[in-house]
Amino acid sequence: MINAIIESIVSRSTTKYYDPAITLTDDQIRELVRIGTTAPTSFHLQNWRFIAVRTPEAKARLRPIAWDQPAITEAAVTFIICGQLADSSVVPERLAPLVKAGIMPAKMVPEWEIPARNLYMGYPQRQRDEAVRTATFGAAAIIYAARALGLGSTPMIGFDAEAVAPEFALAEDEVPVMLLSVGVALPKKNWPQKPRRPVADVLEFAGLRMAAGSTKRERAPAEWTPLPPLERDPGCDGRDCESEAAEV
Ligand SMILES: Cc1cc2nc3c(=O)[nH]c(=O)nc-3n(C[C@H](O)[C@H](O)[C@H](O)COP(=O)(O)O)c2cc1C
Repeated sequence: MINAIIESIVSRSTTKYYDPAITLTDDQIRELVRIGTTAPTSFHLQNWRFIAVRTPEAKARLRPIAWDQPAITEAAVTFIICGQLADSSVVPERLAPLVKAGIMPAKMVPEWEIPARNLYMGYPQRQRDEAVRTATFGAAAIIYAARALGLGSTPMIGFDAEAVAPEFALAEDEVPVMLLSVGVALPKKNWPQKPRRPVADVLEFAGLRMAAGSTKRERAPAEWTPLPPLERDPGCDGRDCESEAAEV
């Protein structure tokens, strides 16, 4: 028997054709974004913003600068998923609710802020990489939440980022990482799920350090026993969470 959550994950596929008659309420859109924001972010930066394009007027502004993709006007909503350049100066503000809730001791805040500063300050490429990682995790959470709710989704890189940024008033530090349409899929028109590369081709078990230039790698076997369900929460319990001060 397969776990229902895993079943939801493994049965997802990108939606191409949506039922344009079916909309989502603003509360449903808010709920999708709330779920998206439970995704992890480096140092709990939460350096993202989600612009919901759901009115005919806003969709008409987006579609011509998004390769004229029909999903923009036919899906209930298209999110412009923005990542914000990683900035360590926001760490105290982002961690304040954890301190207030008694999750993190106040003295630990600099232990996150300082490594974040060392990691990002003066490194624009890293700041941008983090913006892209953050937005991608957020988008992924929305994709799987949508799937679990019976909705289709389309992640899209087919858009003109230089045009989208001014059209939707993105801030200087915001990167439009991807568009993500969500709505009700038209079941008969959409393709079935595409086959994947075999795990044995994409998984390597790291073993002994290889000599430079060697191409011999330990590959995963083609067949294996499925994972049993977890019996306990594999979170911080049983470990010293405070010792994770340098977590990124
Ligand atoms: C970063 C990214 C960008 C994508 N851009 C587009 C796009 O612009 N238009 C589109 O129709 N599909 C787009 N896709 C969907 C991919 O074509 C699709 O995920 C891939 O073919 C695998 O199919 P599946 O998602 O159904 O498993 C994108 C997917 C990703 C992850």
